[in-house]
Amino acid sequence: MSRLVRKGSKRPRRARPAPVRQRYLYERLARAPVTGFRPRLSPVTARAWRARWDRQQDRLVPDRSRRFDRIASMLGGVLGPRFRALDLGCGTGSLSEHILAANLRARMVALDFDPVLLALGRTALGDLGGRLTWAEADLRERDWASRLPPGRYDGAVSSTALHWLTEAELSRTYAIVARRLRPGGLFLNSDHLAYDPRSVRLTRWDRRQRHRLRPAPSARSGETWAEWWRAALSDPRLADEAALHRLRFPRAHVRTPTPDLAGHVRLLRRAGFREVEVVWADGPARILAAVR
Ligand SMILES: C[S@@+](CC[C@H](N)C(=O)[O-])C[C@H]1O[C@@H](n2cnc3c(N)ncnc32)[C@H](O)[C@@H]1O
Repeated sequence: MSRLVRKGSKRPRRARPAPVRQRYLYERLARAPVTGFRPRLSPVTARAWRARWDRQQDRLVPDRSRRFDRIASMLGGVLGPRFRALDLGCGTGSLSEHILAANLRARMVALDFDPVLLALGRTALGDLGGRLTWAEADLRERDWASRLPPGRYDGAVSSTALHWLTEAELSRTYAIVARRLRPGGLFLNSDHLAYDPRSVRLTRWDRRQRHRLRPAPSARSGETWAEWWRAALSDPRLADEAALHRLRFPRAHVRTPTPDLAGHVRLLRRAGFREVEVVWADGPARILAAVR
């Protein structure tokens, strides 16, 4: 009897076309939330990986901690001491943790899609006494906001994450953020927001001087982005998360074609933000603020 025919039945079982089924399974697995007991990752290990992540990011992102200070103080200054804000592309939750330490009555919702970074953040920080909630969602998806705790937010922030989105994804994301913020709500995006493509000489100058400021390989200490990821993905205590990471982000992060500063301003205004200003800058490393 053929393996496709059930016992006691003459009707052959319908074979599904493999590619569709494979795609379905892939989608299910890639979108499935990471849940359940994880015996291998202890808080001590997660804290060590997180500290290593911050050292790697501090080397890579100009003035990262100074920008975190500015974001934390602006949120408190504009919104008052008690606010609830969203952290888009939170990674291990560094910015959310920083904001909560500076604003003791605030609450944060930290959102990301990377299972490795989320596992490290969740395991190391927990919910910080009920002030930090984690959300797992893909900002490229149309319905990512359905993964958020309900209600309106007072603020939203992001740090070095939105340049992973294309213009269409960013436009949709800004429209969603505008809908979820209350009137008067504040959005702060710290990222590399490029010069106008016609500013060829200024862009070239900026690249040259950033290159010059970077320590020579011989004098370099600490890990690069690629070295951190290689090490984390080969840690057996993170094996499950690493497998899911490879499914969700199958290609190493390469430059996504994303808007320049003027493009961000245009998209934010189109989404309904009334005031849009650069509030901190060192060349194209900037914080862009927008009031709903
Ligand atoms: C350079 S890391 C910055 C992480 C964190 N904001 C920080 O400053 O440490 C970029 C983050 O964006 C997240 N990210 C990229 N694409 C995403 C997407 N489509 N949905 C959700 N998060 C995304 C990555 O997983 C990663 O955590």
